[in-house]
Amino acid sequence: MNAKPKVYIETYGCQMNVADSETVAAILSVKDFEYCDDIKNADIILINTCSVRDNAEQKIWNKLDHIKGMKRRNKALLTGIIGCMAQRVGDKLLEHEAVNFVAGPDAYKKIPNIIDKVKKGEKVNETELDIEETYHDIIPKRATENNITGFISITRGCNNFCSYCIVPYVRGRERSRDISDILNEVEDLKNRNYKEVCLLGQNVNSYMHGSKGFPHLLDEIAKFAPEMRIRFTTSHPKDLSDELLEVMAKHKNICKHIHLPVQSGSDKILKLMNRGYTRDWYLNRIKAIRKFLPECGITSDIFCGFSGETEEDFQETLSIMQEAAYDTAFMFKYSERPGTYASKHLKDDVPEEIKLKRLNSMILLQNKLSLQSNKKDIGKVFEVLVENFSKRSKEYMIGRTDSNKTVVFQKQNAEISDFVMVKITDASSATLKGEII
Ligand code: 5AD
Ligand code: SF4
Repeated sequence: MNAKPKVYIETYGCQMNVADSETVAAILSVKDFEYCDDIKNADIILINTCSVRDNAEQKIWNKLDHIKGMKRRNKALLTGIIGCMAQRVGDKLLEHEAVNFVAGPDAYKKIPNIIDKVKKGEKVNETELDIEETYHDIIPKRATENNITGFISITRGCNNFCSYCIVPYVRGRERSRDISDILNEVEDLKNRNYKEVCLLGQNVNSYMHGSKGFPHLLDEIAKFAPEMRIRFTTSHPKDLSDELLEVMAKHKNICKHIHLPVQSGSDKILKLMNRGYTRDWYLNRIKAIRKFLPECGITSDIFCGFSGETEEDFQETLSIMQEAAYDTAFMFKYSERPGTYASKHLKDDVPEEIKLKRLNSMILLQNKLSLQSNKKDIGKVFEVLVENFSKRSKEYMIGRTDSNKTVVFQKQNAEISDFVMVKITDASSATLKGEII
C-alpha cells in the first residue's frame, strides 16, 4: 500500500510564487510526500497566495469557502495557506474553518514539521521572516511536464519600499543568492533539456553577491548555457545600468526583452510613490535601451488612481505610455494596502468610478500601441521557441520571439520545445501570425 500523503499546490500571483511552489514541492518530496495535480485526490491542499491588490486576496477567501465544502465531505483533508497573504493576515486566515495552518515565504522548510503538528489537531501559524533564508540548497521540483522555461529566483524580498507596495512587508529584506547555487540550478535545467531560463527577483538589477552585481551574473549564465535562452524580470528603472544593456547586447542567447514598470508618468506621483526616478530619467533609460538594443521588446506595469492623482497627472501617464511605446503592459487600479506608507500617510482619494474610467483609457491606448508595435513586425523573420498547441486548433502552434511576443503559426513539422524560424504575415494587438520558413 502506498501511504505517502498526496499534496496539491495551487499558485496565485507572480512568477516568484510559481518558483516558490516548486521549492515547496521539492521540500515535501524529500520528506515522503507525493505531489498530485488534481485537487480532488489531495490529502493536503496548499494555496500559495498573493497580497499585492485586494482583489487577489478576495479570490483566496472565495476559494476557502469552496474548500470548506470539500472538507465537510472529507474530514481528513488538510489545508495550508502559504505565501504573501499567509504573512500578511495569517491569524485571520487561521480563523477560517477551512484552514489548518499558515506558512510565510521564509518558513517553507518547516512545512513538513508543521504538517506533523497539524495532524495532531493543532492550528499552526509560522510566519517568522528570516533574513538568511534563500533556500540555497534546494533544487526546485519542476512542475511542468513541458520542459521549456525554468524559473530561478536570484533574489528574495525587496528593499525599495515604494509607498503603495506590500511586498517589502510580506517578503522581507532583499537577499541575493550565491552565483554557484544559481548556476547549479541552471545546470539542472540544462540536464533536463529545458530551452529557456527566466531569472526572477522583485528588482533583479539590485542583485549583489559579494562585489558581483547583476550584469556579472547575467554574463556568467549566458556563457554557462549558450544553447539556452535567458530572460529575467523585474527590472527597476532606477537601477537599470548601461553596463547591463552592454551585457545583453554581447550575448545572442540573452533575450532582448526588458520589463520596466513605470507605474506613473507624473513626477509628482512618482515622488509620492517613492519610486526613486523622474519621468525624464525613465525616458532616458528607454532611449538607452533603444540605442544599445534596437530590437528590444519593452513592457511595463502601470496603475492609475494613486493618492492625489489629478486628471493632469493621469494625462502624463498616458503620454509616457505613448513616448515609451510599450509592446504590452499590465495595467491596474490603485488598491490601498494596509500597513504601507501610503495607507498611513496618504489618502486613497480618487473615486472608484474615476479609477475605472482611467483604467479603461489606459487599456484602450495600450491596445493601440500594441497593435502598432505588432504591425511593424509584419514581413520580418523571428526565431520562435514553440511552447504549445494553439487553444483553437491542433493544426496551429504558439511560441514566443526573443522579444517576448506571442506568435501563432501552422504546425507543419514543428514540435513543442523546438526552435523554428517564422515569417510574420499578420498581426493583431495580442499576437503575431506567421508561417514557418
Ligand atoms: N495597487 C495597485 N497596483 C499595485 N501594484 C503593486 N502594488 C499595487 C497596489 N497597491 C502593481 C504595480 C507592480 C505590479 C506587480 O503590481 O504595478 O509593478
Ligand atoms: Fe508576488 Fe507580490 Fe503577489 Fe507576493 S504580493 S505573490 S510578491 S505579486
